[in-house]
Amino acid sequence: MRSFAGRDILSLKEFERQEFFHVFDVAAELEPIAVSRRNDDMLAEKTLVTAFYQPSTRTRLAHEAAMHRLGGHVTGFVDAKMTRAGDFYQESIKDTVKMLEFYGDVIVMRHFQQGAPHEAAKWASIPIINGGDGWGEHPTQILTDLYTVLKEKGTIDGLTWLAVGDMRMRTMHSLGYALSQFDCPITFVSPPDMSLTEEFKAELKQFSVNFREAEHVEQAIAEADVILVEPVVQPDYTKSRDERAGKEVGLTPANYKITRELLETKAKSDAILLHSLPRMDEVPVDVDITRWSRYWQEAFNGVVMRMALLALVLGAME
Ligand code: CP
Repeated sequence: MRSFAGRDILSLKEFERQEFFHVFDVAAELEPIAVSRRNDDMLAEKTLVTAFYQPSTRTRLAHEAAMHRLGGHVTGFVDAKMTRAGDFYQESIKDTVKMLEFYGDVIVMRHFQQGAPHEAAKWASIPIINGGDGWGEHPTQILTDLYTVLKEKGTIDGLTWLAVGDMRMRTMHSLGYALSQFDCPITFVSPPDMSLTEEFKAELKQFSVNFREAEHVEQAIAEADVILVEPVVQPDYTKSRDERAGKEVGLTPANYKITRELLETKAKSDAILLHSLPRMDEVPVDVDITRWSRYWQEAFNGVVMRMALLALVLGAME
């Protein structure tokens, strides 16, 4: 297996099966630190740089929390408008990361342009972690989700998935690539104008992913062991910021909504429900206290997964 030390985490297309399990093993080893709300000193001599060109609550703060849990330092920006990339100069990714690499030892980047973290990785001499790029990928989120599944179900292989939402979404792309390494049939349910692109479907076939598409969650929920939901009412991920003010925001049609009634009447009793959040109305709040919901556990696991990735790419764990 390739070492993770010094590696970029840009895409799950590049991940091999044993690498998934290695990351999960490291996460499990580090998890007690987060469970006991301690800060260790494993990364005391390292600094994380956060370069966020798009809003984020979870991805940025989970990386920052993970760095603190391992005793490291954090610097960076959360609003590119306050940097030279967001003013008159429109400073390029190359020029920006050529600076950032001297301010720390690893960079986590979220960007509205698909491929921006890959461009950064071309120029940086330190690891780049993709925190979500346009409609591209969101690898650390799906690693978190798979780790959650492994913890909750004791296995990943053999589970049937239902993925609901906008299939242009970066999490869906990382999920498709990740499941190519596991024995997991998956049904995708999305509005027609948000369906899997022909290009992505060709890739899934090339990677031997066992997938089908359906129009309504009711057509697939009964077989699902894992239900992963994303909004269909959501901002444009190719923009640096998409404000809601003044806009009419629609409700989620029943086809793409996981309600408490649907879970009680149609879902497997032991299925688990994931949502990377933020949500609109696709998972109503009365689902939160049902036995299916696992999104709060998923949020905790998001810190643990980022601890594992930071420890690995910074060479603190092999
Ligand atoms: N799940 C996720 O990526 O959330 P944020 O946009 O808040 O980072």
